[in-house]
Amino acid sequence: MTGDQGAPLGDMKSSTENVEPAGELSEKRARQEIEALREEIDYHDHLYYVENHPEISDRVYDTLFQRLQDLEEEFPQFRSPHSPTQRVGAPPAKELPAVKHLSPMLSLNAAMEPSEISDFDDFVRRRLPEGAEVTYVVEPKFDGFSVEVVYQDGLFARGSTRGDGLVGEDISRNLRTIRSLPLRLREDEERPEILAVRGEVFMPRDAFLKMNKTRTERGDDAFANPRNAAAGTMRQLDPAVVEHRPLDIFFYDLLAIEGGPDLHSHQETLKAFSRWGLKTNFFEEICRTPGDIEAKYRRLLKDRESFNYEIDGMVIKLDDFEQRERLGTRQRSPRWAIAWKFPARKEVTLLQDIVVQVGRTGKLTPVALLEPVDVGGVTISRASLHNEREVRELDVRPGDRVRVARAGDVIPQIIERVERPEGSTKSAFTMPERCPLCDSEIISVGAYHICPAGLSCPAQLKAHIHHYGSRTALDIDGLGEKTVNALVEHDLVETIADLYDLTADALTPLERFADKSAQNLVDQIQNTKAPQLDRFLYALGILHVGQRVASVLADAFGDLSSLMEAEVEELEKIDEIGPTTAESIATFFSDQKNRRIIKELRDAGVDVQPQPSATETDLLKDKTFAFTGALSDLTREQAAGEVERRGGRVTSSVSQKTDFVVVGKNPGSKLDRARDQGIEILDEAGFKALL
Ligand code: IVH
Repeated sequence: MTGDQGAPLGDMKSSTENVEPAGELSEKRARQEIEALREEIDYHDHLYYVENHPEISDRVYDTLFQRLQDLEEEFPQFRSPHSPTQRVGAPPAKELPAVKHLSPMLSLNAAMEPSEISDFDDFVRRRLPEGAEVTYVVEPKFDGFSVEVVYQDGLFARGSTRGDGLVGEDISRNLRTIRSLPLRLREDEERPEILAVRGEVFMPRDAFLKMNKTRTERGDDAFANPRNAAAGTMRQLDPAVVEHRPLDIFFYDLLAIEGGPDLHSHQETLKAFSRWGLKTNFFEEICRTPGDIEAKYRRLLKDRESFNYEIDGMVIKLDDFEQRERLGTRQRSPRWAIAWKFPARKEVTLLQDIVVQVGRTGKLTPVALLEPVDVGGVTISRASLHNEREVRELDVRPGDRVRVARAGDVIPQIIERVERPEGSTKSAFTMPERCPLCDSEIISVGAYHICPAGLSCPAQLKAHIHHYGSRTALDIDGLGEKTVNALVEHDLVETIADLYDLTADALTPLERFADKSAQNLVDQIQNTKAPQLDRFLYALGILHVGQRVASVLADAFGDLSSLMEAEVEELEKIDEIGPTTAESIATFFSDQKNRRIIKELRDAGVDVQPQPSATETDLLKDKTFAFTGALSDLTREQAAGEVERRGGRVTSSVSQKTDFVVVGKNPGSKLDRARDQGIEILDEAGFKALL
């Protein structure tokens, strides 16, 4: 930590080294240390969650936090609801009490067309004195969950949902768990006595995708989109659930202020927010004419794809507060602002058929085959219908016209039936009683239907082998879906162990292979004979064992043989491993067929490498990455996973603390910013070399 950046404690040693046991401190010393620690932790929370560039390692942070917890335990008289330790751990509530807002939470009139923006500008100018200088601030319209947050004397007092605009529900306990929301405003001589601000709680896109993946791996229902995830989480009664949901917040509006500075404009307000530690968005820009506004709108529409959060339009606000006053408000919305919505990512198309797919774990999924349709720039021709219940609820049948959206703007989804042709004879969808691929009798587990045949079902075998070679598992490039299908259909591969017996001669007769490509695939497979334990465990495709669980298991056991002998009870003791996962792991390794396959793998020369200790995997420890543009070999999610597995961090924006900017195809403004700031720029090859 460098002293000149205003860290509250000049000397960090005081709180991390040579510490006296909590019980031996005098009351006075304890109070001083508690206050200093709170200030220091608030400071580092701000750097980490708001500014996106931490100055200390997680380990040092944890030491500070632990010390504060110890002291508060020892000296309960100094506990405070504003301590960073109090973000978590509140018991579930029975209901959310009602709270009256300090000032009404209005909504915005919405525009869809450029002409409506010119009309708005004309209207504003007509109501202001002739020749008045008109300045607008434009911001993204965040697609999240709107909240009021109130600070009293700089301390978080409460927060509430919008409700009917006048009265909302008290969600203070949930809001406290959001790390980027300050529990106390940063010191500032102009800090107001009362401050009510409006902000939007949202779930970052990457965190949303990751959370949904974990949920489906565990068998829980996925959230439809990040907004639903944020809204559902905020209205949760149990803060312990909220604590594990990765939420964030942007502040964008002043609702009430007393005893603080005189703020004259929106720009001044946003600057004051930043000084107080309230997270604002970097896009705010100034416009003076409808033409300026339209240019910014087009750019935002293009840039939105690269943001790590959802936006659904642009908000245009008159900057000057006196001018706002002149214009006034309508019943429910101000006259001085307007939202210019993005075109909906929704289209209507024909549902051609519903087919049933069998996944790697045997789960049957109904999939809608659609007449291809462009939804916000992406062609959609199929959409998962998840399970039988969902198809029933939507009540869709082949021949219907349906509305298709991109949920969270990524995953195609049918949202409703629009029309059914008159005299349609199609009956309601039901799951088949037998597996469409291997004819085994289907069993139902909760809302799901499962083919119990395991790897003797060709669909599951194909998916299993494909998974084994996938990028995040053993990364066998040549083992794409079509190749796997061919290998299974020609009986060349019945288990993953058979992959290692493949020869170029056996492959060349297949349609897809020439001499060279056959040898390539064989070489690639042979190159995976020394996999690291975590990757290998993930590659085995054990039910409920995703990348995260695999790495937890690898850290806990260190080598494959000890894990194979572990009992359920032993597995359950590991942090993050629940009873269902423990059961699934133990069942997998006690199954004779699976043990035989592992033996065959070992006989073929596969030698699973023990998990390296943490220091060896810290290759990118504390390095911060930002991505811009599309990578050709990796999705954003995969690239971020690779960085995180090596101890690095990925941020959505470029700042002075960014170490590397990785540039793919069609990069955005982050590339310019990286150049301006002299940050190291990597292309995809450079990034891979670094990994
Ligand atoms: S200003 C009265 N700014 O959009 C003006 N609203 O109906 C107060 N929203 O649910 C709103 N991003 O919560 C403003 N940058 C932004 C916003 C924003 C999202 C939400 C707001 C409300 C809806 C407008």
